[in-house]
Amino acid sequence: MADKKLTPVEKLNQEEAAAELERLAAEIAEHDARYHREDAPVISDAEYDALKQRNFAIEQRFPDLKRADSPSEKVGAAVSEKFEKIRHRVPMLSLDNAFSDEDVRDFAARVRRFLKLGEDAPLRLTAEPKIDGLSLSLRYEDGELVYAATRGDGTTGENVTANARTISDIPNRLKGDPPAVMEVRGEVYMTKADFAELNARQEAAGKPTYVNPRNTAAGSLRQLDASITAGRALKFFAYAWGEVSEMPADTQMGMVEAFREFGFETNPLMAVFESVEKLIQHYHRIEMERADLAYDIDGVVYKVDDLTLQERLGFVSRSPRWAIAHKFPAEKAMTTLNAIDIQVGRTGAITPVARLEPVTVGGVVVENATLHNAEEIERLGVMIGDTVIVQRAGDVIPQILGYVPEKRPKDAEPFEFPTVCPCSLKTPIVREAIASGEESVVRRCSGEFACPFQRKEHLKHFVSRRAFDIEGLGEKQIEYFFDDEGGLEIRTPAQIFTLAKRDETALTKLKNRDGYGEVSAQKLFDAIEERRTIPLERLIYGLGIRHVGESTAKTLARAYLDWPSFEEAALKIADGDEAAREEMDALDDVGDAVIDSIARYFSEPHNRDMVEKLIGELTVEEAERPATDTALSGKTIVFTGALERMSRDEAKALAERFGAKAAGSVSKKTDLVVAGPGAGSKLAKAQEFGVEVIDEDEWFRRVEGL
Ligand code: IVH
Repeated sequence: MADKKLTPVEKLNQEEAAAELERLAAEIAEHDARYHREDAPVISDAEYDALKQRNFAIEQRFPDLKRADSPSEKVGAAVSEKFEKIRHRVPMLSLDNAFSDEDVRDFAARVRRFLKLGEDAPLRLTAEPKIDGLSLSLRYEDGELVYAATRGDGTTGENVTANARTISDIPNRLKGDPPAVMEVRGEVYMTKADFAELNARQEAAGKPTYVNPRNTAAGSLRQLDASITAGRALKFFAYAWGEVSEMPADTQMGMVEAFREFGFETNPLMAVFESVEKLIQHYHRIEMERADLAYDIDGVVYKVDDLTLQERLGFVSRSPRWAIAHKFPAEKAMTTLNAIDIQVGRTGAITPVARLEPVTVGGVVVENATLHNAEEIERLGVMIGDTVIVQRAGDVIPQILGYVPEKRPKDAEPFEFPTVCPCSLKTPIVREAIASGEESVVRRCSGEFACPFQRKEHLKHFVSRRAFDIEGLGEKQIEYFFDDEGGLEIRTPAQIFTLAKRDETALTKLKNRDGYGEVSAQKLFDAIEERRTIPLERLIYGLGIRHVGESTAKTLARAYLDWPSFEEAALKIADGDEAAREEMDALDDVGDAVIDSIARYFSEPHNRDMVEKLIGELTVEEAERPATDTALSGKTIVFTGALERMSRDEAKALAERFGAKAAGSVSKKTDLVVAGPGAGSKLAKAQEFGVEVIDEDEWFRRVEGL
């Protein structure tokens, strides 16, 4: 093609132009297919570009001849500003991890216990590789792909449909007889070979190379310009689902077989086993094959095969009870410990951090590792300048396992743990007493909100993804605005929301700052405005109260429903009100540590003031009321005695699913007690308070009727 003499575009007549556009469309489509699907281009990128340029030049001269399947329309599609958000109709969850064979046996035992299955009762489990890529949810309606969304925070992802369409493993139309609504989920990944080839191309072009296939796949999928994604060889394995109007199968394996019939690639190493030991054997087999596989994997995922059992098992927090990821052992490497820095966390906890000579461990460059505390440094015996062994497992923070004594340089220096906070206040670092009367290994800066490090960390938490999640206001920007002295400072949560209205010139000021322009400044202001209305659970989580994580915040929000009620309870508890305390104590997963921490937070005038100012800026959305349309909605139920047909955990989970609350002890507020054989004091108490008592069979009759 390159050496064929071509008529200059200016000299083409209509007929010749039409013929050439037709030829070019076919030829470019073929190269696209070779490149994207078979990963075997037969021409260089420059030659490919020349074809596209000629096609474009002809189209410019003969706009009327532009074809419906014009190659210039396919690639280089309009670049969107940012991705649209998509709310997953069924959340995309993560998996719990197992690190040893023993953990896997425990998992199976837990499943059996929950389901009340005897040790010998059959329990089929699937095993399949855990692909090291990123998950994607594909929604098909009447067999047509309507959108592709990334996982995002599990609840809301990004619309990457245009990009997903460039992946040849992802059908635009499902084959066979799919249900009307079919959300197929799986992993987008890049093969090791394609990754190496991409890097070779980058290197040849004098461009920077990529770190590992996973990050490259993620980066490639999240390109605003779909033509860039199209240029990357991405692949897809289907292994899970979201909303489905009519289930095509009743087992995990059956679903995966259905995916294959719909036209998806599924992992050939997936298999079903009848015993845990067989499962573990399969794990070790996959582990042996790992290096020879075409793609990176980081473990093996086990799932209960029977979907009815999956349904019964349900979820704990963000992961299913019916699945677990058995991770491969961490990878290790040796490098030099250059320095130890001190980091101050949101709660003032002081953590020594190892600064390392950059080293690649398991495909990722590691430069920092946590040293946890002074005792850990002492235990390891490391000195600055030592050659240390670092380990990295999955997304876990890299760790230092020890040092190599033979390699200790003469000038190696021991590390002196500081006694004052490295912040400008130089506040003393203190150790808390723990229950046993001993001192905790955790050292804290006692400066609380006065310590600039802690304030900054609080703000970072406040804007983080699971809290206020303000687009364009992340850790980096907090650093930037925190230190501002030109009228744009953000040193408290409320100041985020007063940024724009502090003075009329705020927008102009920001526009003229480095890194900001007209559009980005306005966008930040808009993003902040958007979050002025915030769900209660995000607000509670965002406050950064110790021990109040995302799931506790959710529990609190669901229990108190609106901000005034929560605040009233918190203030009462801070004032020592016993009734308020008991009420909170009755909530699942809320114990003394959480309550003490809430009390402490709200007894601090500084915090109250901070919260008051913040609330003045916000509209807090009430929490979703639990399902109110069932006979169990809002009821408090206590299970006691032996249950025959399901475990107590399952019974509780079931009650919660119908909008009821399962409590641990009987009080006047209890609505219903389900008592099995052997029920003792709780039953007596129920009778004393006149609470309705039923047996397990009656409980089932009621639940089945719902
Ligand atoms: S199942 C409800 N199967 O691992 C559980 N996940 O740690 C849905 N992953 O977000 C996930 N390979 O991105 C499942 N064969 C596999 C997987 C897999 C990789 C990823 C996925 C998920 C993460 C959870």
